[in-house]
Amino acid sequence: MFVYRFVYLAFFLSASAKFIWKHHNNEELPLVLEEVHQKCPNITRVYALSEPSVRNVPLYVIEFSDTPGFHQPYKPEVKYVGNIHGNEVLGRELLLGLADYLCEQYLKTDPNIMTLIHNTRIHLLPSMNPDGWQLSTNFGGQDYLLGRGNNHSVDLNRNFPDLDAITFEFERLGINHNNHLLKDVTRLAAPLEPETRAVIRWIMSIPFVLSAAMHGGDLVANYPYDESRSGALASEYSASPDDDTFKEIAMAYANAHADMASVNRPGCHVNGPDQSEAYNFGKQGGVTNGADWYSLKGGMQDFNYLATNAFEITLELGCKKYPLENELENEWNRNREALLAYLWKAHIGIKGIVSDDTGFLENAIISVVNLTGHTPKPIRHDVTTGVYGDYYRLLTPGRYEVTANHPGHYPAQRIVTVPQRQSSARILNFKLEPIRYEDGALFFDPPFIRYQHVLGDQPRIYKRSLFEKVTNTLLEAKDTPKQ
Ligand SMILES: *[C@@H]1O[C@H](CO)[C@@H](O)[C@H](O)[C@H]1NC(C)=O
Ligand SMILES: *[C@@H]1O[C@H](CO)[C@@H](O)[C@H](O)[C@H]1NC(C)=O
Ligand SMILES: *[C@@H]1O[C@H](CO)[C@@H](O)[C@H](O)[C@H]1NC(C)=O
Ligand SMILES: [Zn+2]
Repeated sequence: MFVYRFVYLAFFLSASAKFIWKHHNNEELPLVLEEVHQKCPNITRVYALSEPSVRNVPLYVIEFSDTPGFHQPYKPEVKYVGNIHGNEVLGRELLLGLADYLCEQYLKTDPNIMTLIHNTRIHLLPSMNPDGWQLSTNFGGQDYLLGRGNNHSVDLNRNFPDLDAITFEFERLGINHNNHLLKDVTRLAAPLEPETRAVIRWIMSIPFVLSAAMHGGDLVANYPYDESRSGALASEYSASPDDDTFKEIAMAYANAHADMASVNRPGCHVNGPDQSEAYNFGKQGGVTNGADWYSLKGGMQDFNYLATNAFEITLELGCKKYPLENELENEWNRNREALLAYLWKAHIGIKGIVSDDTGFLENAIISVVNLTGHTPKPIRHDVTTGVYGDYYRLLTPGRYEVTANHPGHYPAQRIVTVPQRQSSARILNFKLEPIRYEDGALFFDPPFIRYQHVLGDQPRIYKRSLFEKVTNTLLEAKDTPKQ
């Protein structure tokens, strides 16, 4: 039904449509994406997430890649998610504008954009909460809370499984299990909303490396953790193991923005009625640790980091949650370089492929010790390899010992220096030796699916990782029915 309508509308689109800065409604949003796809068919794909919103609006994504629809080894995947709070709308329009810009610059053979698209797979979800957008818009868009939640009045940025609680508990117990924690969830605090469920399936099925979620109401790039360790409601810095790396990527956005990082700009709420919100983030470089601002549970940002290999930050794009239409283009100009600079951050650190004589090794574990300072410091957050044995480990400049582990194989270690100002991650591949008994039998038959090396004509099939199967099982088993 829906697919039919979509194709039908697409038929009337002109291939030369010019992007207009305005508030695009839920019918216009997919048309903009489809127009971009018509202009740039070779480097884009439009798709919808597995489930629509409560009011049955599909959650559309546009993807940019020179192999749309397919993951490729060595090519990191990035996403931007807009409008998770329905009444915070700037991200939604910026992502539509970004889609048009990437396509137009590619057609003009802008060398930076071409290099970016040839080396990165970029997914843009302009609106995660179209129903909230509709409610907010129906009431003039200026209410501070109306339309924040979805049509069940649920705040989607509080609806994700609380993995922070699990990682903090493991820390207290001294258990060194620090990634892919969704399987450790025993109980959901609240039923998952359809929008949350759709996004969880998405982020578990694509091997994202880097991500940002877009909000409004302040001007700051916020990084993990969002949840405090003690339960303090505010002002308690809650560092993740990747605190330095998160600061670097958040600062990349803030510094490239027109004035997010400016010490001279006024804070958003300093003259407002609520002095408790009187932060001036410009004075701290335009970035903040989440819980150091205020603590929240069930956010999407920390879920990404603790459930997958993706590093996500939260962008508060301006004091106004719902800017006026005639302010949108100027906001685009203020954010454009930041949006691009952040995408390039998918290329910092190291990446590589883990294999053995028989093929790629999926679900190998990459752990890192920071050798830069006087004493070696383990970074207690491992990343894992995907279906092509590929991994991506964002790191700040420094010297690191990197270990690849896989059941049934001897671990391998290498030392690497990560340079300043990378536009491409350093490549560090690992070839592992299987552990054999004296009679030559394999020590252990790994329970992972393996894929053979394919040279030349790579199968045009996106093989989903184990994690998606785990997610599906979990979502089905642990969902409590909605009352
Ligand atoms: C898409 O690729 C085809 C085949 O390489 C080429 O002929 C065509 O010009 C490309 N279209 C655009 C819009 O780049
Ligand atoms: C849910 O959607 C209906 C129909 O559009 C609308 O009347 C109602 O106000 C919405 N409720 C919320 C909480 O958004
Ligand atoms: C490693 O340590 C150095 C020196 O303390 C620091 O500058 C760098 O950011 C650290 N790297 C990571 C990824 O934390
Ligand atoms: Zn928000």
